[in-house]
Amino acid sequence: MLKRLWSKKGETDSQATLPIQPDNIPEHIAIIMDGNGRWAKHKGLPRIAGHHTGMKTVKRITIAANDLGVKFLTLYAFSTENWKRPKDEVEFLMKLPQQFLELEIEELMENNVQVRMMGDKDQLPPHTRKAVEDAMSRTANNTGLVLNFALNYGGRLELIKAVQAVAEQVQNGQLQVDHINEDLFSTYMQSKEMPDPDLLIRTSGEIRLSNFMLWQLAYSEFYFTDVYWPEFSEAHFMAAIQEYQRRARRFGGV
Ligand code: IPE
Ligand code: IPE
Ligand code: MG
Repeated sequence: MLKRLWSKKGETDSQATLPIQPDNIPEHIAIIMDGNGRWAKHKGLPRIAGHHTGMKTVKRITIAANDLGVKFLTLYAFSTENWKRPKDEVEFLMKLPQQFLELEIEELMENNVQVRMMGDKDQLPPHTRKAVEDAMSRTANNTGLVLNFALNYGGRLELIKAVQAVAEQVQNGQLQVDHINEDLFSTYMQSKEMPDPDLLIRTSGEIRLSNFMLWQLAYSEFYFTDVYWPEFSEAHFMAAIQEYQRRARRFGGV
């Protein structure tokens, strides 16, 4: 399984051995897919060409994660702040989920992948929303990798919505204030059916969260790489997992 991932055409068998520990694969990997625009600029291409190539990376990394036995892969595809971008770029980005899902749905089905989404669906253009909802319902019974797109997602917005829902229940008398604890609060988050990410990867050299999963990343391992998302390869992904496997997670203990 690992071998298939690692072996590319023309590579020898000796390169196929991997020091990845199969018993310590992160269960949930979250990725801030960044650097599409800069990648395109370096190549003298328009920014949207970077987004287009970035979509191919999504496919490669999804397959890689599935092959490795990762259970949840969350990909930051569009933030609540990304609406500030030029209209043309936003329009292009809003067409990508449809393009990606239409193109890949059969393969996702074959691989037993379940598609999910976090983020504010209401503000998405109808075609974007429909594409995601169709893919979600079509793959709902799949039991393999969960491919979770963070689309029109913002960590602060998610927290505010959770607080509003909690406050409403308190106001209605359905919930007592002293029953609010971390476990309960987690069930109001959009990630409620997923464990917190074990590993966060951000590409493109930026060292920040940009409003991503503020609640859920409390104890995740962070991995930053200078590689731009369109050129982030299976080997880069493996390197991130290897680095993760070298870390000692203490969760405040000793
Ligand atoms: C990430 O690449 C994709 C999205 C944020 C939608 P960018 O578009 O942010 O690329 P850079 O950071 O400008 O290079
Ligand atoms: C974060 O990247 C959002 C996504 C990858 C979807 P940005 O490129 O929007 O983040 P900033 O603006 O550099 O912080
Ligand atoms: Mg960026």
